[in-house]
Amino acid sequence: MIADSFGRVHDYLRISLTDNCNFRCFYCMPEEEYDFSPASRLMQTDEIVQLARIFVEQGVKKIRLTGGEPLVRKDAAEIIAALGKLPVELVITTNGTRITEMLPTFLEAGIKTVNISLDTLQPEKFLLITRRDLFHQVRSNIELLLQHKITVKINMVVMKGLNDDEIKDFIDWTKHNPIQIRFIEFMPFSGNKWTSNKMCSLDEILATIANDFTFLPVKAEPHDTAKSFMIPGHEGSFAVISTMTAPFCSTCNRMRLTADGKLKNCLFSDGETDLLSALRNKEAVLPLIHASIWSKKKELGGQLGAHFEQLDADAIKNRSMITIGG
Ligand code: GTP
Ligand code: 5AD
Ligand code: SF4
Repeated sequence: MIADSFGRVHDYLRISLTDNCNFRCFYCMPEEEYDFSPASRLMQTDEIVQLARIFVEQGVKKIRLTGGEPLVRKDAAEIIAALGKLPVELVITTNGTRITEMLPTFLEAGIKTVNISLDTLQPEKFLLITRRDLFHQVRSNIELLLQHKITVKINMVVMKGLNDDEIKDFIDWTKHNPIQIRFIEFMPFSGNKWTSNKMCSLDEILATIANDFTFLPVKAEPHDTAKSFMIPGHEGSFAVISTMTAPFCSTCNRMRLTADGKLKNCLFSDGETDLLSALRNKEAVLPLIHASIWSKKKELGGQLGAHFEQLDADAIKNRSMITIGG
């Protein structure tokens, strides 16, 4: 069992497969030209599996693959197939562009839920946000997943003046589709131009939805990041991920392994533990994992949001989102 000094058991590992991505969303990557890590610095397939196995032996029950965009990695299928053999729930967060080619691998590996990042339902705005003209491809890939009975959660980072006018359109989408829309409070990361007035809070999102719909809370699972709701008569549902105004650190069960093999004990931690170097040097990895998680702070994300109006995003010491994976 992996626990921290506050008694939180950590049984959920997020593994970033690459810091590369085929999109260029401004809120996720730094403004200046970003150099993706060379392959030699990334964990290789066998190293990912070796590290994952150590975590699973310590009680990890769920592994989420993230990026960058995890599916741009050339050996993504091989990694998914290998991890699919471990006794864990394997899930993935993706931008949804490479689903067609990966679907057989997903089905074979037993992936039952896919989280898709999609911030707009308007093709022109999609191009503006991602700088790629691939809206229709992502939409049809979502249909493909649903046809194969894979649960789809849509991640929509709500940004004022950019896509907050689309909240109702996203809710309308749930009327006849069994999808869950997760409206996400915009979070500050290195170089992502976060300001408090661009952020749409949990209360604001719910107030907007309440203008047109009646909704009811759905009981949360113990470690949910999302507060979930249902609308009577809608096939799908919605949720809000409120890191900034209503954080969920007290029930945190998450660990993160970056694509270059560093363990981050919190999304907002600046300290990292280099598991990949230890593995390559044939040093013991397990004590490093336990020490890192034990030293986890009580609520870094929570503290960040406590006075978010005064927050200077540039002063936060952290990686950019593209190198963490969310
Ligand atoms: P499940 O709960 O497994 O469905 O996934 P998730 O919602 O945690 O993961 P996903 O990759 O879809 O991320 C959705 C949003 O939640 C992103 O904005 C993530 O950055 C955020 N998120 C994920 N894990 C954490 C966490 O531990 N703390 C905080 N503050 N935010 C998180
Ligand atoms: N704030 C909140 N969520 C973000 N994501 C990426 N950048 C941010 C940010 N600055 C979300 C994406 C993706 C998930 C892994 O993290 O929507 O789905
Ligand atoms: Fe866990 Fe850190 Fe996220 Fe809080 S901000 S829920 S402690 S990962």
